[in-house]
Amino acid sequence: MLNTKNLSPDNLSLFTALCLSFPVSIAFYFISFHWIDSLITFIIVFILSFFLIRFVLNEFIYRKIKVIYKYIYQTKASQREEMYYQYILPKKSIEEVGADVEKWAVQQRAVIDDLKNNERYRREFLQNLSHEIKTPVFAIQGYVDTLLNGALENKETAKKFLTNTSRNVTRMVDLINDLDEITKLESGEQTLHKVKFTIQDAIRETYETLANKAQEKKITLSIKKGCEQPVEVLADKEKIQRVLINLVDNAIKYGKADGFVNAGIYRTDDKNVLIEITDNGCGIAEDHLPRIFERFYRTDNVRSRNTGGTGLGLAICKHIVEAHQQSMIVRSKPNIGSTFGFTLDKG
Ligand SMILES: Nc1ncnc2c1ncn2[C@@H]1O[C@H](COP(=O)(O)OP(=O)(O)OP(=O)(O)O)[C@@H](O)[C@H]1O
Ligand SMILES: [Mg+2]
Repeated sequence: MLNTKNLSPDNLSLFTALCLSFPVSIAFYFISFHWIDSLITFIIVFILSFFLIRFVLNEFIYRKIKVIYKYIYQTKASQREEMYYQYILPKKSIEEVGADVEKWAVQQRAVIDDLKNNERYRREFLQNLSHEIKTPVFAIQGYVDTLLNGALENKETAKKFLTNTSRNVTRMVDLINDLDEITKLESGEQTLHKVKFTIQDAIRETYETLANKAQEKKITLSIKKGCEQPVEVLADKEKIQRVLINLVDNAIKYGKADGFVNAGIYRTDDKNVLIEITDNGCGIAEDHLPRIFERFYRTDNVRSRNTGGTGLGLAICKHIVEAHQQSMIVRSKPNIGSTFGFTLDKG
């Protein structure tokens, strides 16, 4: 059976020429009753109509399609493309051309979606950035103006204002350093210095660094029972320390008073180690979870606004872990607590 769906211009011309020459030659036979004349008529009509139809198809329809192809690939025809237009395209059926155009349309839609997302991301990023910078800069401006307008005379007030100014300057410096680190991690500028070290030691060091902060909220910092046995990992120790500090700092910041922070260390398989930091704090609602690792993203939670963080901590953690070709996970339930984890290569 002739498949009319995938006819190329040549096939289509052949098919139409046959359809034309058959009835014409039969009609001619009934007029002349000479089968040789009728055969000659068949051949002449067939050849003429075949070339005519093929010419019309190629010249008019394919020329138009060629223009569409040029548009969708947006190129000035190079030599290879010329060959494509000359030899490959004419063999394609209209359906195949249609499928190509549809594929191109899907690709373009994906590109447009990407551009829209990037645009949204860029807008949100700039909004967040200006908001984060505005707060300390306006505070500094307020303190300096008050000092210049006479508060300098009172030594005690002056000292208080300068302390506040210094705190806001520190906040801006922290923000700039965090952004700088993220940019370097994103551009792959920072190389990893992988060494073997015991992950429990790194966790204990982190606990020591944050002991005062935990003390203020009477939060106990510990390693889970059964996870004390030393496990070696192969990673950039300094950067992993940064991840641990961010996660434990969050666990304390968003943890409840008299609560706990627990670290679990598990060998998932021969190659990987999973490290989890669990708290019994305020937790995170499910709809926030997918966005929690985005830059500047913070939950609406009033406490997270009051803690003075910039919302860059988890974004930095994710970048560091992904630079190690590993991944981060989060599990959380409001008012029950959160678990943040990441995997590392076994040492
Ligand atoms: N352990 C946790 N429990 C509850 N909420 C958390 C926890 N860790 C993170 N979050 C939520 O995720 C948000 C993003 O955390 P992230 O560490 O990126 O920013 P931050 O702590 O607000 O600021 P930064 O770490 O830059 O000082 C936090 O603002 C908080 O809302
Ligand atoms: Mg944080």
